Amino acid sequence: MSPNGTLDALLVEKRVFRPLPGQAIEANLPPQELEAARKKAQTAPLDIWEEAASELVWYRPWQAVVSAPDGAAFPRWFPGGQTNIVANALDRHVESAHRNTLALIFEYASGENKKFTYFELHREVCRLARAFVSLGAARGDRILIHMPTLPETVIGMLAAARIGAVHCLAPLGFSAKALRRRIEASRARIILTADIGLQGDRMAPIKPVVDEALAGTGETRVETVVVVRRSDQDIPMTEGRDLYYHDILGGGREASPPEPMESDEELFVLHAGSSLSAPRGIVHGHGGYMVGVYRTATWVLDLKPADVIWCTAEPAWITGHSYAVYGPLLAGATTVVVEGNPLAGHGQRLFEIIDRHGVSVLYTSPTLIRMMRRMGAAPGRDRDASTLRLLATAGEPIPPELWVWFHKTMGKGQCPLLDTWWQTETGMILLSPLPASLLAPGSVGRPLPGVSADVVDDAGNPVPPGKGGHLVLNAPWPGMLLTLDGDPEGYRRQYFERIKGVFFTGDMARRDEDGSFWIQGRADDVVQLGGHRLGSAEIEGALASHPALAEAAVIVVPDAMGATAAKAFLVPILDWDLRYDSEEDLVRDVKAHLRRELGTVAEVRFFAVRSCLPKTPSGKISRKALREEA
Ligand code: WTA
Repeated sequence: MSPNGTLDALLVEKRVFRPLPGQAIEANLPPQELEAARKKAQTAPLDIWEEAASELVWYRPWQAVVSAPDGAAFPRWFPGGQTNIVANALDRHVESAHRNTLALIFEYASGENKKFTYFELHREVCRLARAFVSLGAARGDRILIHMPTLPETVIGMLAAARIGAVHCLAPLGFSAKALRRRIEASRARIILTADIGLQGDRMAPIKPVVDEALAGTGETRVETVVVVRRSDQDIPMTEGRDLYYHDILGGGREASPPEPMESDEELFVLHAGSSLSAPRGIVHGHGGYMVGVYRTATWVLDLKPADVIWCTAEPAWITGHSYAVYGPLLAGATTVVVEGNPLAGHGQRLFEIIDRHGVSVLYTSPTLIRMMRRMGAAPGRDRDASTLRLLATAGEPIPPELWVWFHKTMGKGQCPLLDTWWQTETGMILLSPLPASLLAPGSVGRPLPGVSADVVDDAGNPVPPGKGGHLVLNAPWPGMLLTLDGDPEGYRRQYFERIKGVFFTGDMARRDEDGSFWIQGRADDVVQLGGHRLGSAEIEGALASHPALAEAAVIVVPDAMGATAAKAFLVPILDWDLRYDSEEDLVRDVKAHLRRELGTVAEVRFFAVRSCLPKTPSGKISRKALREEA
């Protein structure tokens, strides 16, 4: 065996794990049906999505599954069809035998929990929906949700969608300035927030950050700030603008039917980091997104009404939107949403939550698994995880060795562990093994039936198996973003012109002889931190405003544990040393500046101070040279 481990890695990658026969047969998509779906995907891929859509409720049927009168970037899914995702996530179950099934279990950091049946969650959502309407919110209006993880976060999303308003979640941890940019970009009329909330490991004020953001110069459209009250301390409330959540809720039970939405009408906007200067506002709609998320929640995560799924991503990020909120509810399952660190108490909390609620499906990220491994958090005498039957990860590559560890410990070598690939833009899982397929650690499997992906070179020519290239999507899929908020032309250019006519994911991948895909990482400088996506450009923009810096560049590097981290190269101005005693002193100040500008989300882990940066012949900073150096 070679001492450098290359051979090891090759051997590991060749390992294949089979599902237990019973598990495969009980899957929503058992082996024979999977084979049939793969065949159908060859000849009539749209039938796959049409069948999924038929399992859901529509107010008006669609005229076609998909049509693209405006070109490949703007396919319209289920045109002519009218629906509302909330009618399918809640009302459909309330009107069925699952009315009293648990929809949401919320775990507070304190250890208390709050449970909502479908009936109860529906009632809460209707109450807030009526309150939003009484505040003047209407179809198409934007509602910005800047909330800690609370039941009201989920209720807020569903209430907005129910009345046809568009929710925009801005995660905590952003500075007032960064929040301000998101408020402006969203054009929100209402903000839903909380007085205080758990941020990291401590309770922090939240409403004051919103106040500061709104106090910035220039106009916003914000008319009302709705505040969920958690503390007994009074906080400053602006007369005529700020209202407490509990004060706006009416007690009544009058029905508030969901607004019938055109299939491609907007449901939400989510800002995702990019290598461009501003975060992209990725827009998803009701119909296509609903069908895609529903189908993947049932086929990939294999959700059934008896399942309890815990997706450890916060609701404010895409994984939370699709698989902590919408997917489980569309599937009629129970979703567990958790406030605070899932691994508190050296990992003990994770097992307590799984055990207390009988979690059967755990959807998490390689970062969390890495931390578990470091803590030695595995099932044991007082750590029961025997209710788990399926494991899945997303957000970053999972090294084969970590895959095998998680499969063996958490999954007892028996639960399928699915490495699922997707993006904020795709809205839904697109590449993944299925519960009934073979599993190869490190591989994201094949495109789901109905999804078409390829690996191509810079010119768009397919590359042979085993060779790396750009991961592209060469047919539309239902969860596809509608557009970039306010910038349809930019959307078309950035995603459909890098390689003509196909969707450019920005990821590099290779395909093996069996057609399985292996993700190699981003082609651009998007930083994937703990499953959160940040753009190097936004960080660079913040660095550029530091008075002692002449130039700066941010790239992505692996940290000591193999996760991705951001590294900044700083070029200080001449005479910088008149103001700072040392490079460490400068870096300390730059760190504080970043925290003020961007907040704690965009954490840069590594810094290097240079007198100049390597440049390409055209004068751009050569990230390639920086990456090689790092
Ligand atoms: C990366 C998160 C490897 C990828 C759902 C993608 C992955 C970006 C995987 C999207 C995976 C996601 N293996 N890399 N299974 N899943 N990625 O928008 O680089 O936050 O482009 O969506 O995460 O990040 P986003």
